[in-house]
Amino acid sequence: MSPSPKPGVLEITPYVGGRAAVPGVTKVFKLSSNESPLGPSPAALAALDQTRASLSLYPEGSAALLRQAIGEVHKLDPARIVTSGDGSDALLTMLANGYLQPGDECLFSEHAFLVYKIATLANSAVPVMVPEKDTNTGLKVDVEAMLAAVTPRTRMVYIANPNNPTGSYLGRDEMARLHAGLPEGVLLVIDAAYAEYVTAKDYESGIELVSKFGNVVMTRTFSKLYGLAGLRIGWMYASASVCDVINRIRGPFNTALMQQLVGAAAMRDRDHFWKAVEHNNKWLAWITAEIRKTGLRVDDSVANFVLIHFPADGEKTAAKADAFLMKGGVILRGVASYGLPNCLRMTVGTEEQNRLAVSLLQQFMAA
Ligand SMILES: Cc1ncc(COP(=O)(O)O)c(C=O)c1O
Repeated sequence: MSPSPKPGVLEITPYVGGRAAVPGVTKVFKLSSNESPLGPSPAALAALDQTRASLSLYPEGSAALLRQAIGEVHKLDPARIVTSGDGSDALLTMLANGYLQPGDECLFSEHAFLVYKIATLANSAVPVMVPEKDTNTGLKVDVEAMLAAVTPRTRMVYIANPNNPTGSYLGRDEMARLHAGLPEGVLLVIDAAYAEYVTAKDYESGIELVSKFGNVVMTRTFSKLYGLAGLRIGWMYASASVCDVINRIRGPFNTALMQQLVGAAAMRDRDHFWKAVEHNNKWLAWITAEIRKTGLRVDDSVANFVLIHFPADGEKTAAKADAFLMKGGVILRGVASYGLPNCLRMTVGTEEQNRLAVSLLQQFMAA
């Protein structure tokens, strides 16, 4: 007999990432994981070359040089930053490890990022999934419904802002209203993995709220706009006491020297940053408009992907569209695991990738 895991663990459906290959098709474009079509900054690649000499040594354990670079660019106190060498996923998980007790309730929205449920169940806590609103711009977190779901057992709230896979966001005032309605003992975790892409004037990534309140954490990643998904670097900004909790439970050398050096160089390369923002602005608008012309519903997005809705039955379903695009060499992301079986999510790619994906969708809808 093997030892039993903690209650909840066997209820976890293991995370399955976006597909990367299509059997029988040699040239494929992967638009399934919201990675950057521009790749990393040249400065980050140059820093990668410098790390060869120190592979035999443990890195400095607090990731001071990376926290310094993040603090400099975002004007934050490096002492209130914690980094991760296993993505922001690991920080989201460590926050649950640090704060959720068996039976505690953890709130998140119906179509939220899958890691929240995994981290909750892994701590024998109870996931409470709150329905989203279908607004005239698309699916969106419902602040009032989230607040109505708070009970004396609520301990944590995860909000992806912008949300994956819907691409919608809560504005500064909406997030402030959500925070104001939570009891002080509830930790609000704002997962801002796509913050760098957002140009909406009423968006606030979480920095202001963290600066004012001890029960708010913001997590960020180098996997998206910085084009470093393969290197797995994440960071969070929080009060000194939340940072202290995470620093106690994280691995002692959880951010490799390679990650620290490359991350710091990527963060400081603001030219590459703005190039990626501009590319996304241009193609996000184009993709949204062109796909809407086919008659399909595309929700407004402020991130680097769009959510496309398909009819539930007949010849134009999401599953049929997915198969058609795959044959043409484009991989989108099925989002049934997010409670959206009739949708596909498409990442903004290079010009060539975007044009091919849109043309295949046009052909699919016209057939
Ligand atoms: C909302 C959201 N949060 C966090 C992550 C994880 O990012 P990381 O690569 O830093 O673990 C993702 C990745 O898809 C995401 O969509």
